[in-house]
Amino acid sequence: MRSVFRSGLSSVRKEEQQRLLTILNEGIETGATADAGGIVRCPISDYTCPTLLAEEQRVFFRDTPLLMGLSTDLPENDSYWSDTETGLPILMVRDDTGTFHAFANTCRHRGTQVVADGRGTGNRFSCPFHAWTYSNKGDLIAVNKESSFGHVEKKEHGLVELPSAEKYGMLWVRPTRGDPIDVDQCLGGLADDMEHWNLPGHGYTGSQVLHADINWKLAIDTFGENYHFDVLHRETLSKEIHGNLQTNDIFDLNYRMVFAYHHFKEIVANVPEQSNWPFRSMTLCVYFIYPNAILLVDPYSVDVLRMFPDNDQPGKSRTAQSFYIVPEAEEHFQDGGEACAQRFAGFNQVVLEEDYLVGESTQRGALSGANTHLVFGRNEPALHHYHNAHRRGLGKPLLEVETA
Ligand code: FES
Ligand SMILES: [Fe+2]
Repeated sequence: MRSVFRSGLSSVRKEEQQRLLTILNEGIETGATADAGGIVRCPISDYTCPTLLAEEQRVFFRDTPLLMGLSTDLPENDSYWSDTETGLPILMVRDDTGTFHAFANTCRHRGTQVVADGRGTGNRFSCPFHAWTYSNKGDLIAVNKESSFGHVEKKEHGLVELPSAEKYGMLWVRPTRGDPIDVDQCLGGLADDMEHWNLPGHGYTGSQVLHADINWKLAIDTFGENYHFDVLHRETLSKEIHGNLQTNDIFDLNYRMVFAYHHFKEIVANVPEQSNWPFRSMTLCVYFIYPNAILLVDPYSVDVLRMFPDNDQPGKSRTAQSFYIVPEAEEHFQDGGEACAQRFAGFNQVVLEEDYLVGESTQRGALSGANTHLVFGRNEPALHHYHNAHRRGLGKPLLEVETA
């Protein structure tokens, strides 16, 4: 089906595409891949320590702006999306003027979650406990039986608004009160890529949550190298994508690696001018968006994966996945639901039944205390970067590259 998406799609800037395609083309010829220049040792305690997890919860999941999803999660005015994956109830809305807001989804009466988890449309939200009612701008507009309850200053009892921002088709929220969000600063130089992908042109089709007995960073590590493709995924992903071949680019705390589909060489053989090679059809782009998201861009769709610790348990996490497709894919499937069902079935076969299964084995190994550290290879530069980005966030010493 990918052949129908070979042209006409926006993508990363042309000259950057050419540079990346050259690296991949040479890599397919020579077997060379990205090289971090040495190995890195990562302490096992990074995956098991409850004290570290408490610090991560505060720094990453309370105080840091998080990528929540794409603009089409809120497809029209008066759309809402209530999400508790961060561990806090967050209500995201697009108001009647189209403006994106995020609120603490916590009633100002007794603190109950006002809007149940899920998505829909509506401009009034009534709390399930005693029916205080809020507008989708967060204003408290009605106190049930106010004459018997007593006077409440409504202006002072609206839902608490959280810092939020919408830019390049991305929705960002800081889960607790704090400074406004500067999306360009969060992206650390990835704005060009995000803008060129035309993210608002990708329609939201569905979401799922995967639970696994792995540390949340181990879930992110799953998307941090393709050295394992020809082994763990030899019957699945390896049939589509070249293993042990990636590009390597750092954007401040974020990261981008590009993989090549096996039909890359077919296209190279059939399209003589490199400048005409259709970048998006030939590649899978994997972005790490600090601190906890992976954005996958394939020929016809985008996935946003958000990894979270499961409360206070270092050995448990959940991955919230949302799937978005380009209009051409919608036409191809005639039904976004069908595309989504296919995507999740394929994704679960690879990620849940292969990656996270091995991840659970890794987590058990970590808990056994047998090893003091894991080793990240020179061909796994994203893992070096992810872990050092988190260390930077926590103000911890960075992992150092060990050259032979
Ligand atoms: S807690 Fe919401 S109305 Fe009472
Ligand atoms: Fe994998």
